[in-house]
Amino acid sequence: MSELTWAYQVSDKIKNKMEKVASRTRDKFPYTTIDGRFDDWTQKNPCWWTNGFWGGIMWQLYNATKNELYRENAIINEEKLDKNLMTAWGLDHDNGFKWLPTAVANYRLNKNEESKNRGLLAANNLAGRFNLAGRFIRAWNDNGDASTAGWAIIDCMMNLPLLYWASRETNDPRFKQIAMAHADTAERYFVREDGSVNHIVEFNTLTGEYVKSHGGQGMKEGSTWTRGQAWAVYGFTLSYINTGEERYLETARRVSDYFVFHIPESCFIPVDFCQPEDCPWEDSTAAAISACGLIELSRLVEGTDKEKYYNAAVKLLQALGEHRCCWDENVDNLLEKCTAAYNDKEHEFAIIYGDYYFIEAIWKLTEQELFIW
Ligand code: GLY
Repeated sequence: MSELTWAYQVSDKIKNKMEKVASRTRDKFPYTTIDGRFDDWTQKNPCWWTNGFWGGIMWQLYNATKNELYRENAIINEEKLDKNLMTAWGLDHDNGFKWLPTAVANYRLNKNEESKNRGLLAANNLAGRFNLAGRFIRAWNDNGDASTAGWAIIDCMMNLPLLYWASRETNDPRFKQIAMAHADTAERYFVREDGSVNHIVEFNTLTGEYVKSHGGQGMKEGSTWTRGQAWAVYGFTLSYINTGEERYLETARRVSDYFVFHIPESCFIPVDFCQPEDCPWEDSTAAAISACGLIELSRLVEGTDKEKYYNAAVKLLQALGEHRCCWDENVDNLLEKCTAAYNDKEHEFAIIYGDYYFIEAIWKLTEQELFIW
């Protein structure tokens, strides 16, 4: 069977399952599943960084099927996020993850002005996190003690497209200038000589000087957290797509080469590329996210690299689709064996963004995608 025939079959399975799931998950912000049912993270944290992915899944399904159920659910998700948009402490560098798959997706599809307004508010807030001395976007908030004021994280590469979008919408280059300044800092301080990346880099907030790197959600300082590497693969590719600057394409190739070289024979991605050989923990989200980035990258390069990135993405997706997807329609999640952080107590459970990026990757292969980054 060709990989495209396979991808179309998986796409049909996703549509069959998700119609049932979407009809019983109308107004939740799912994060994980409990006994096979999505939880509702709104109760725990209405400002949690993953709260836009359910809306994103709904827009991708709506784009592919035009089923009104998905559009309605996506709008509920977008409107519920307004509480977050009015909560200063809950707005951080993750604004892109929350409002690109929801409000901006709605605006791209339907030219809804209220959605555009939400997207621009989120972009203005994101731009306001720029530290001029260090030329980085601050990642998280703290309780006012400035303990994380100098922290930037590799994940932020995925939030820069909100700024690129805002510059295009407003014809104001400031947003893009800030995004590129951050991307340049990330190239310099996050990407190591061998193409692997740091998760967190700390800068002096007044002088902008590099202080140190932190292990963050990876195993330890200096190790290679696989989801962080995946954010770099997709994030630098997206900065190239949004700016046409060759240096981002070069960096995307370097970090992707590292990722592809370290894919195990099984194609199941560990939580950290440096974890001990006898540690079995996997993170399926890293596989799905990197597959999205590698497919996009394969479309931007020629020759053997084109095949290398495309084939790696297909292998990752086939491993997920055949061995790490739950196709039971009574269970809400798709992907299994996702891990939030190496040093957390729990590993290998369902996480909503794993499902989002798996669907996005299959949609890329089958040309059903709404491009939201
Ligand atoms: N952006 C946070 C994470 O990847 O877990």
